Amino acid sequence: MDASAMLVALLTILATAAAAAAAVASSSLRRRKNQPPGSLGLPVVGHTLALLRALRSNAAEDWLRRRAAAYGPVSTISLFGRPTAFLAGASCNKLLFSSDKLAAMSSASFLRMVGRRNIREVAGDDHRRVRAMMARFLRLDAVKNYVSAMDDEVRRHLRAEWGGRAAVAVMPSMKSLTFDVMCTVLFGLERRGDHAAVRRELSSEFQQLVRGIWAVPVNLPFTTFGKCLAASRRGRRAVARIVEERRRASGGSAGDLVTHMLAEGMDEEEIIDNVVFLMVAAHDTTAVLLTFLLRHLDGNRAAYERVAAEQEAIAAQRRRRGGSGSALTWDDLAGMRYTWAAAMETLRMVPPTFANMRKAVADVEVGGYVIPKGWQVITAATMTHLDPAIFPDPGRFEPARFEAAAAKSAPPPFSYVPFGGGARACPGNEFARAETLVAMHYIVTGFRWRLAAGCDGGFSRHPLPCPNQGLLLDIEPKEYNELC
Ligand code: HEM
Repeated sequence: MDASAMLVALLTILATAAAAAAAVASSSLRRRKNQPPGSLGLPVVGHTLALLRALRSNAAEDWLRRRAAAYGPVSTISLFGRPTAFLAGASCNKLLFSSDKLAAMSSASFLRMVGRRNIREVAGDDHRRVRAMMARFLRLDAVKNYVSAMDDEVRRHLRAEWGGRAAVAVMPSMKSLTFDVMCTVLFGLERRGDHAAVRRELSSEFQQLVRGIWAVPVNLPFTTFGKCLAASRRGRRAVARIVEERRRASGGSAGDLVTHMLAEGMDEEEIIDNVVFLMVAAHDTTAVLLTFLLRHLDGNRAAYERVAAEQEAIAAQRRRRGGSGSALTWDDLAGMRYTWAAAMETLRMVPPTFANMRKAVADVEVGGYVIPKGWQVITAATMTHLDPAIFPDPGRFEPARFEAAAAKSAPPPFSYVPFGGGARACPGNEFARAETLVAMHYIVTGFRWRLAAGCDGGFSRHPLPCPNQGLLLDIEPKEYNELC
């Protein structure tokens, strides 16, 4: 780096630090007696670096638990240069998901990369309008129509990336699988011609972009944020080309989301912000679920055998009715109850979204304290997911917790929240469920797997969970295999 770049870097860091220090200092001055206990930590950095370090070493649950033990369920910390209330427990989850004094918010870096008009950032009628538009593509009756296209993508992907191999790095493989499913099903991008190049470009830019979700927003060529922002700019240009292509083809009957957004009268900026948001929301989360489901099944042979038995029974039924070569049906998915219970248990233990964030748009009373207007508010799903009073022996992988028979002892409301809750609960949960079950069917009936020697099975968070070595598995094809 030359001297002028160094100077710009230094000035930018100092300016950011000064702005953050001013924000923290002014809010400290306004500190009231009944503000939540805790501290704002070190000047400027607050607790940001400590939490990011804990996330990277997969110790963030412990870090938060220690704070909750020291200060109770409502406490003060400082994240990303802003005073923050950290809330722990089911009733706090309920408050976060349902209070109209708390507005959805994303980290400053996510906002810069994704754009201000994405569904997460808009409120009131604007939010209802965008959400209703997306729901048309994501609700149950729409998802039923995607099963066949999902099936086609999954088989093609496993043949190309798992077939003939002795080992596979699961996380990158699942990311490209879920990215392909999303491109085909939601955005109508074909695998041939110009679209193939657009898919490749989008895939590589979005891999980079998600690394910056919680990066410190200092935009320099060598910072994580700088690199991610550059990837986001390139990704947005590629999305703009798709929008333009669909606009030129207007009047056609294409059933993709971008054509639908144009028909709804959304302008280009709003469409791009929402497409970029969906590209992040719709594929990495499900890739994490699939990856950690395989990891947990490897470590829990009894659960693995039950999932295998369920999937083999469905494959046998399909053979009997001569349907092996054709796509799975919605009825087939409905029969995969134990497999989905195992997926839910995976989401309990390793929720892809670590924290849910909101911003107080008015003073909020909780547990005898007041969270001042303007503060950030965060909760972490694992605070209830790993609480032994709610899920006994929480470190044990036990899909039976989510089987129908256990419904009587279902966890209390707002204690199981991998998809969030309230008006902003994830609208993609049925999409994720169908995609997960289709993928699991072909993985389980096509291959046996074991953690590869030398792969420790551990993971860190960036902030999505990221397994060491991408979760390297030794794989072996099964004799009868629907992929062939
Ligand atoms: C296992 C997979 C997934 C998980 C764990 C997950 C989790 C979440 C969570 C925790 C939220 C935030 C809720 C809140 O702030 O209250 C969310 C929001 C959202 N998710 Fe998902 N998600 C998944 C898959 C998907 C998929 C496949 C799609 C689309 C195809 C999707 C689309 C969205 C959208 C549009 C929002 C914003 C909703 C709003 O603000 O109204 N998600 N998701």
